[in-house]
Amino acid sequence: MCGIFGIIFNENREDLGQILLQAGRRLTYRGYDSVGMAVFGNDFIRLEKDVGEIEEVNRKFDFETFKGYKGIIQLRWATFGAPSKENSQPHFDCSRNMVGAHNGNIVNTKELIQGFSEKGHVFLGENDGEVVVHVVEDCYKEMCDMNLAIQKAGDILKGDYAYAITVKESGKMYCVKKFSSLYLGVGEGFVCCSSDLPSIIPLTKNIVPLYDGEYVEFSSDDFRIRKLTSGEEVTRHPKKYDLDIEQAQKGEFPHFMLKEIHEQPEKAQALINFFGESSHASEFCNALSQESKVYLTGSGTSYNACVLGSYYLNKIAGVEAIPVIAGSFRELLGHADLRKDAYILVSQSGETKEVINVLNLLKEKQAEKIFAIVNVLGSSLQLRVDKYLPLLSNIEISVPATKTFTNQVILFLYLAMELSKLKNMPTHGLEQGIKKIPSLIQETLEMTSGKCRKIAKELAESKYLYYLGYGINYGACLEAALKMKEITYIPCEGMYSSEFKHGPLAIIEKSDWVLFISTIEDSYMTLSHINEISCRGGKICTIAPPEDSLGANSDEYIELPTADYFLSPLLAVIVSQQIAYFVSQEKGINPDQPRNISKTLTVD
Ligand code: F6R
Repeated sequence: MCGIFGIIFNENREDLGQILLQAGRRLTYRGYDSVGMAVFGNDFIRLEKDVGEIEEVNRKFDFETFKGYKGIIQLRWATFGAPSKENSQPHFDCSRNMVGAHNGNIVNTKELIQGFSEKGHVFLGENDGEVVVHVVEDCYKEMCDMNLAIQKAGDILKGDYAYAITVKESGKMYCVKKFSSLYLGVGEGFVCCSSDLPSIIPLTKNIVPLYDGEYVEFSSDDFRIRKLTSGEEVTRHPKKYDLDIEQAQKGEFPHFMLKEIHEQPEKAQALINFFGESSHASEFCNALSQESKVYLTGSGTSYNACVLGSYYLNKIAGVEAIPVIAGSFRELLGHADLRKDAYILVSQSGETKEVINVLNLLKEKQAEKIFAIVNVLGSSLQLRVDKYLPLLSNIEISVPATKTFTNQVILFLYLAMELSKLKNMPTHGLEQGIKKIPSLIQETLEMTSGKCRKIAKELAESKYLYYLGYGINYGACLEAALKMKEITYIPCEGMYSSEFKHGPLAIIEKSDWVLFISTIEDSYMTLSHINEISCRGGKICTIAPPEDSLGANSDEYIELPTADYFLSPLLAVIVSQQIAYFVSQEKGINPDQPRNISKTLTVD
């Protein structure tokens, strides 16, 4: 997704370009295809941009040498208009007086380009960020006041977006938030805005979270938050954010993904400590305790955690828990009465468009019991729900989610256990079981990495792959398959194993690999499903606790360190993360930034 960062200092800075470049580098994890920077001195604007990686574009323009007192950097991930120099951001207005850059989608771009061209505006490309600048320019010409211009532009620009904009020879900058992430940072002698916290925190920990439908007028020493529709001023003070940015370095690991995989024991421990130390978690459980039906929703990996979570809530706490893909929520449930049930919205970023759409629908339908599980505090999702639980995974830089999935699953397990206690149901030894998760993850990583490397060499040659699992293993298979396809580009499907014979079995040819995830309790079913494939020449790799028959019926067997029914699916996912990582290395793919996708998807 695009990333924007804008800053205004109280004096000219020799190092402005370096500061902007560094901020841009910290947004690269969101995915991008073009980069641009604009800086303002007392009597000049310099704007350079092009298609490419940040370091490549920097080599072309030497951004580090850019000086001035304010500036904007933008990393673009193409949606409106192909990746090209013209469509790169930031953009000038017609008079080259105003510069702006955006993130998100202006859905009426085509109509606006046509209408504003007829009014005499000259567009150099087809990008919606350029439309933002021309619309504000037009409104500014008419109203002669930037506040009024931004409010009026808010009526004209349709879609979900955030942008930063500034005019030459003005000590002010403006940023707007409308359903796209945006934060304000307030430091000594400067104020800045950014799509995400990692680019602000190294400069200042004083953060002002912004809500949708707000914009900010800021100078180097002041900021005013106003409502976009009315201009009414909103008072909000900066809060200290203790995000550990130093952890967002690769250290001795070759990739963030591998580092984040290995951080899982520590992050799991932090979350487990939080359960014991904070009343937050038990309040969340108490609020859910009366619910017999709960919808769990998220996208991608977060949805997969919901699938596993729904088994936990049902099997441990007797709750009817229904996982729904966030993108399908309105289509599936939009005409139902949503007031009576409870909803848990799950998201690492707290900004995923489909998840925010669910939140909007639930609010529109007057649902009252809306809960969130979210990693990024200060995100749109966290700010807009009454009850949330943090994942405490710290920043996840690598595009594939790993440590946040693990903590999502642990949170569901904890919720299920607490709800079962409140209902006087058996807790299946989970009090002790949950405490063992960090060391079990560590053991899994150590015990299985050799086998994962070995099988990765074989799997890397595959045309396609399947992860199959029965019952509680299904969510783990979905996640394992998502990791595989995302960072190895090998088509890989996660399926309910009993479904395989209903069609996909026809694909299997001699020596094709199929991976299974199983618990001991499901081994009888798993064996039957394994044999449907192996008797047709398919090769089997099974990830499961030690079990003789499973071992005897598999070509490769990766043993998990516990036979615990509820924990082993999570540990199987840890194995699958390693396998996917090693396959990506066999294929020479950078798993941190797989092609075509980005970390935070704020478009439909
Ligand atoms: C896959 C992955 C994505 C995200 C999805 C939702 O590894 O990371 O599938 O899980 O885009 O993102 P969040 O959790 O931020 O809502």
